[in-house]
Amino acid sequence: MNNIQLDDNGRLRHFIGIEGLPRHLLVDILNNAESFISVADKQVKKAPLLRGKTIANLFFEPSTRTRNTFELAAKRLSADILNVNISMSATTKGETLIDMLRNMEAMQCDMFVIRHGESGAPFFMAQHVAPHVSIINAGDGWHEHPTQAMLDMFTIRQYKGADFSALKVAIVGDILHSRVARSQIHALTTLGASEVRVIAPKTLIPKNVESLGVHVYDRLMKGLEDVDVVIMLRLQKERMQGALLPSQHEYFQYYGLTDAKLEVVKPDAIVMHPGPINRGVEIDSEVADGDRSVILQQVSNGIAVRMAVMSMILAPKSTEQKKDKH
Ligand code: CP
Repeated sequence: MNNIQLDDNGRLRHFIGIEGLPRHLLVDILNNAESFISVADKQVKKAPLLRGKTIANLFFEPSTRTRNTFELAAKRLSADILNVNISMSATTKGETLIDMLRNMEAMQCDMFVIRHGESGAPFFMAQHVAPHVSIINAGDGWHEHPTQAMLDMFTIRQYKGADFSALKVAIVGDILHSRVARSQIHALTTLGASEVRVIAPKTLIPKNVESLGVHVYDRLMKGLEDVDVVIMLRLQKERMQGALLPSQHEYFQYYGLTDAKLEVVKPDAIVMHPGPINRGVEIDSEVADGDRSVILQQVSNGIAVRMAVMSMILAPKSTEQKKDKH
């Protein structure tokens, strides 16, 4: 499925998932994002790379971080951005996704950023768009959330350096329903992390997850021992069918991250969370707002990483190479 993401020269054409992408391409995204970080510090936060391009945000599920950072990223690259209000669109009158696409293409859109509850929706769209149009997956069902994983890798690199082979990373919580965890696991293993652990009650661990190259723990303190990075995940209650947990209270008792439980991690370990956080469910406020937390830095980094992905796909290749001069 990932071949559809690359053009004949191996460059990004769509960004649907991390699975199957080569390491050098993930490193290119991180390096490109580095060059965009400084744009945020300028008085005029603009680079002209995507002037004349039109990008449409199509969010069929709610979002605070992803939608707004895609919008800011597009604006900082000087693109025109449409935030399509799905609940007011003709999809509510029965228009299909494909017909919606065709109509948006007729408005000369160059890129669609799509979040959808159905796994595979962005892949389906990528199969049907016009040859000059690109798709970025902003999170699809349980499948992947690739730009979230890349902003997480960028944040890890910022705090821990570029050598992922020196790092032990623990991902804690609702692994089963998490598109973020799936993308993070692919990114971390591709970038060569020394060890990737997933920690959760057995009911929230996907079958055969070990085949992705991770170690499974069902005891939090054991799994956290000696790690450099702790990534907490929200319980995706909207995706749970049936009773997978006894109670939220009990979940917090066994899997909620508190300062006391962090005693076993490396002294300089960082705590991450893709958001939205549920305080007192998977993470205590003293951790979320504490010294180890880089949660808001992840959000800021999302702008530079999304600028990198959008420009790698859409910028004319000769100008993309000149971006360091913006
Ligand atoms: N991390 C993340 O996807 O957050 P939003 O749902 O707010 O976009």
